Amino acid sequence: MENTPSVGKPISRLEGHLKVTGSAKYAGEYQADDLLYGYVVNSTVTKGKIKSIDTSEVKKIAGVIEVFTHENKPSTAWFDFQYADMDAPPGTVFKPLKDNDIKYNGQPIALVVADTFELARYAATKLDIDYEQEDFETDLKANLEKSRDPKKGLASMLKPPPPKPTGNFDKEYESSFIKTDSHFSHGTEHHNPMEMYASTVIYEGKDRLKIYDKTQGTINSQMYVANVFGLKMKNVQVIAPFVGGGFGSGLRPQHQLFMAVMASLALKRNVRVTLDRAQMYMIGHRPPTLQQTKFGADKDGKVNAIYHKATGETSRFEDYVEIVVNWANMLYPAENTLLEHEIVPLDVYSPLDMRAPGGSTGMHAIEVTMDEIAYKLNIDPVELRLINYSETDKSSDKEFSSKELRNCYLQGAEKFGWNQRNPEPRSMKRGNKLVGYGMATGMWDANRLLGRAEAIMTPDGKVEIKSAVTDIGTGTLTIMTQIAADELCLPIEDITFSYADSKMPFAPIQGGSFTTATVGPAVQNACQALNEKLFKLAKKLKDSVLSDAKFKEVQFRDGWISLKNNAEIKISIKDVLASNEGKSVKTTNSAMPNPLTYGKKARAVHSAVFVEVEVDEELGIIEVKRAVTAVAAGKIINPKTAESQVLGGMIWGISKALHEETILDHQFGKYMNANLGEYHIPVHADIHDLEVLFVEENDQFVNDLGVKGVGEIGGVGMPPAITNAIFHATGKRIYDLPIHFDRLL
Ligand code: MOS
Repeated sequence: MENTPSVGKPISRLEGHLKVTGSAKYAGEYQADDLLYGYVVNSTVTKGKIKSIDTSEVKKIAGVIEVFTHENKPSTAWFDFQYADMDAPPGTVFKPLKDNDIKYNGQPIALVVADTFELARYAATKLDIDYEQEDFETDLKANLEKSRDPKKGLASMLKPPPPKPTGNFDKEYESSFIKTDSHFSHGTEHHNPMEMYASTVIYEGKDRLKIYDKTQGTINSQMYVANVFGLKMKNVQVIAPFVGGGFGSGLRPQHQLFMAVMASLALKRNVRVTLDRAQMYMIGHRPPTLQQTKFGADKDGKVNAIYHKATGETSRFEDYVEIVVNWANMLYPAENTLLEHEIVPLDVYSPLDMRAPGGSTGMHAIEVTMDEIAYKLNIDPVELRLINYSETDKSSDKEFSSKELRNCYLQGAEKFGWNQRNPEPRSMKRGNKLVGYGMATGMWDANRLLGRAEAIMTPDGKVEIKSAVTDIGTGTLTIMTQIAADELCLPIEDITFSYADSKMPFAPIQGGSFTTATVGPAVQNACQALNEKLFKLAKKLKDSVLSDAKFKEVQFRDGWISLKNNAEIKISIKDVLASNEGKSVKTTNSAMPNPLTYGKKARAVHSAVFVEVEVDEELGIIEVKRAVTAVAAGKIINPKTAESQVLGGMIWGISKALHEETILDHQFGKYMNANLGEYHIPVHADIHDLEVLFVEENDQFVNDLGVKGVGEIGGVGMPPAITNAIFHATGKRIYDLPIHFDRLL
């Protein structure tokens, strides 16, 4: 049977039926002998000291095994601790149970371990804890005078500081024909994946652990555990085949992992620690951020001056930053720029990357500002983007490796029916509802890191590919299988992709939309190396017809190795394997960007987003009735999983624009809506007609696959497009997110 390429086909997720039938196991669902359950106790004060924790009564409860606090934490914990984790910002990583210091509300201060989860949770309520409270500060707006530059650290590799000023912003802005000056404010948000944080630790004998962890990086968790507890890397195995949503919250090892490992090592028992929904609000969040933009444009709409400043929250112990202000000059080629990003340390836990961190914050301000310019000059918003279109990244003066954004604008506008728009605010109506059309640009990095993969062909001709990478619901398992199938020219049924086990070849955390570009080329390289090994064995066969052939002269087709210029000269792979004394053929290979050339071009994913909103002013309802996102992200390996990624991003974009916000009461320093009842996210009834369009984009530079990644781009352009559509519908320009209806009053 002729094998057709599988890359480019909309193959359904290979693990889909396991998930929808409930047979996929998540970290908190693995059974183990005599499993103990830990429940984390959280500080009810925001800042101060623990004067005492009386555990004596709790320890008397039948079935309670141990209570760990800072006073009796095992000496194994914080073994000569320098290491943080792969996504740690500059600063000092938070160490649970280290001492009696309280740094933020909800801080984990004890672990109750019992025979059942319910008993541990009950016993936790019986602890007698005495605090000494201190004054605290949690209000970003009230503490702006304390804002400062963030410290630089390892994290700045993927999160570069803002580019240096160019030209003379003040002078150009002052003399501009059009000037904007807008202030934006975004609230705190929490990731809220479906699956809660859990670690099931299997104690396999002295200092050997097998851990089922909810994480976006198995090796990240493995390195953390090994370093914190002074264990050998090879004695720590972290497994995470199914992940019920991450959205960034699994980029750092979370404290339930520390707690479960600590208890397991101390008690020499199997231990599970699961956080509940309220406790998920204590593991990181998107920081509240204030922004100011000042753009200056000439009468033709050309933007010549850009000022963009962001001020975000961080904790007292780590300098969390995201890329908020770097985008404007990557997108619009102004000669005069001033970009600043400051942080305000407060008595909160460290913020953590969440769904297009920085991009979805910064692009909101940038693209709303562009809409303001379009209105001031009476230029169509799409036209204004084309007037300011650039083939190069002005902020680095580098050419883009590819950029099909123009076609995103044009094809997206066409599909949406943008030309039906009457630009006059409040001019379009449907019944008694106001209708608004808005558009915006989306942009995200096309990054790539080091990845490794192993390819094993067993004597029956089937292939197993291995990588430690996770699949957080993105489709990684499916597309890696497709990539391997094509590289080996085998049907996908012959390929097994084994993954999400720290014992497998290295993969970084799964985030930043860089997984396909990172692990895909490693899978490709391993498959190629496997073919080379098979070819070498074929040449060595007795009387081999390929003995004089070179690797580049042969092709692999349907189980045969044959000459490209004469397919009749061929050897069956079965015969090659038969000659290998029943052994498998194996190879492990790396792939990484070429350090000499990779930085020579700018690399980004782009989108154009078109949105229709309906605003019912009498009932106070804002709805996104329709949206089209046109994406240019290089080669699309699987149009179905890629479309799902972008659809998910669009829904989170609606959520960010209209629903999500965690409210912190500054009198208590505490999040007040730490539950899914009061933390609003869209439900099915909020989601209407969403369409995704992939624009053809050929990129030979980013990697051999030509892929750029399609996770976060789906969310970036939605909030500004919705904000702009609401202006068009109502004539009201709202600068703060989320836009609940009361902001329109
Ligand atoms: Mo994403 S916020 O990089 O998981």
